[in-house]
Amino acid sequence: MLPIDLDVIRVTLHVLAATIWVGGQIVLVALVWTLRRKAPEAVAPAARAYAWVAWPAFAVLILTGFWNLQVSGRMIPGGMAGGYGTTLVVKMVLVVLSGLGAALHTFAKRPAFKGIWGAVGLLGALGALLLGVSMG
Ligand code: HEM
Repeated sequence: MLPIDLDVIRVTLHVLAATIWVGGQIVLVALVWTLRRKAPEAVAPAARAYAWVAWPAFAVLILTGFWNLQVSGRMIPGGMAGGYGTTLVVKMVLVVLSGLGAALHTFAKRPAFKGIWGAVGLLGALGALLLGVSMG
């Protein structure tokens, strides 16, 4: 059997947190779609329940992301060559957009703004996921 070492644990934590942050948003969209029609009063509690899991997952993504960078050996001079540095910078912009979009979605009052910020959060998360896989 292949070894389960600290590197495997580190990447597993990063990927698990990504599945919760990104996959959870997609599942929530599908749930809210149905709840709006069948039990509108349950929409806000369902979103709050997801937030309790999602924000810790976002924090784990950032912590394990910096841990990935430190262990990957990319932090030495020349380690960001071959497009890696550009991909990392674009990914960080998308991570910020994802967090900001999700936070502004939570605090927005008007349905139009809720929709816009929710979409910004989800698209940022999907973009960060795509670039993360290309870096992995
Ligand atoms: C929305 C936030 C994020 C998502 C969805 C995400 C997703 C991913 C995914 C799916 C991988 C591929 C893992 C693999 O197969 O090896 C990955 C790798 C990586 N991520 Fe992230 N990530 C996020 C945030 C961050 C942050 C904030 C950092 C740095 C501060 C970071 C740094 C890295 C690095 C360095 C790798 C490559 C790991 C390796 O060398 O195996 N990520 N990310």
